[in-house]
Amino acid sequence: MTQSANPAFYERVSAELADIDAQGLTKPERVIASRQGPVISVNGRDVLNFCANNYLGLAGDERVTQAGIKAQEKWGAGTASVRFICGTLEIHKELERAIADYLGFEDTILFAAAFDANGGIFEPLFSAEDAIVSDSLNHASIIDGVRLCKAKRYRFANSDMADLEAQLKQARADGARDIIIATDGAFSMDGYIGKLDEIRKLADQYNALIMVDDCHATGFLGPKGRGSFAHNGVKVDFVTGTFGKALGGAMGGFICANGDVVSLLKQRARPYLFSNALAPAVCGSSLEAIRIAAGEEGDKLREQLFANAQRFRSKMADAGFDLLPGEHPIIPVMLGDAKLAQDMAARLLELGVYVIGFSFPVVPRGAARIRTQMSAAHTFEQIDQAVAAFTQAGKELGVIA
Ligand SMILES: Cc1ncc(COP(=O)(O)O)c(C=O)c1O
Repeated sequence: MTQSANPAFYERVSAELADIDAQGLTKPERVIASRQGPVISVNGRDVLNFCANNYLGLAGDERVTQAGIKAQEKWGAGTASVRFICGTLEIHKELERAIADYLGFEDTILFAAAFDANGGIFEPLFSAEDAIVSDSLNHASIIDGVRLCKAKRYRFANSDMADLEAQLKQARADGARDIIIATDGAFSMDGYIGKLDEIRKLADQYNALIMVDDCHATGFLGPKGRGSFAHNGVKVDFVTGTFGKALGGAMGGFICANGDVVSLLKQRARPYLFSNALAPAVCGSSLEAIRIAAGEEGDKLREQLFANAQRFRSKMADAGFDLLPGEHPIIPVMLGDAKLAQDMAARLLELGVYVIGFSFPVVPRGAARIRTQMSAAHTFEQIDQAVAAFTQAGKELGVIA
């Protein structure tokens, strides 16, 4: 028992937990007893994994793993320092160069996570005279980053270009100095790809900058997997991204931008200035993942990934499931009710398929779903097994006829 002068606080915490549970919204941690991959060990059983952000199948890849080990052997566990004191190793510079070159930007600043990249990008660059125009479905870390910045805030309905234009007009009418449009490149709960071609046109019209969070795009969307902006054939001012998904799955975030912007962020971005440098093992693994993604093998992995996504989508639609439309390897199976999503995920696990039910506050109330995610590492046979398990569970639970 916690000793405290304020037991009421702990009672409030317990009551809130009980309330979350009563609403069927508890998100338990399932412990995995194997490396990340298309097949993982859960509760002592091997099951198919359809909920990792392991788009290229590089998390758990032996080369990516060994590159991390090699980097750790050379550079040790870490720097025990932030970057500007004594925490900048050659491998950090190498990683910054590699991701900037891959995505086609002048320079890069690394962070411990994309959460920090999004938290650190706005406040140093924009102030009360400026405006941030943000998509309503942007990731929580963008929302937090915007909150930390003094710029005036404008919100537009998800990918609604008429609303974006209205907000841009308003920001200009309000006398904004600089305007930045902030959007996810691919929206993580729906798998919708940002309309960056249309956003580009409006940005040009209203003289606005564009920031894209490409956590669910870098490595696999667009030519060479450069991301959502490349997929849409446009350039943007800033890309924030992660090494924790397609690019090896370790962790770590980055902002790619113009050289002076990166130099200024290195002077001012708080999650960079006041947080430890990325661990060498993470840098080594991420470098190897970039090498694979940027090369010919990356093209083959992307081809497989999208073939898998196409197969799963069409077979699940044929089985009668309600899917959100699109082409992204995030394929949400819509269920509506939070409890139903949990029951479905639990039954699927019994049937050997590991997926998670997503409910409020991660998605709107009444829009609970199982978010499936395809990987290049899945075989067609595994995709078909997953569809068969979904079909069985869906029939048992009355989701499909
Ligand atoms: C769109 C988006 N942005 C940012 C993040 C945060 O990434 P990281 O895990 O590197 O902090 C995530 C991860 O959930 C994400 O999906």
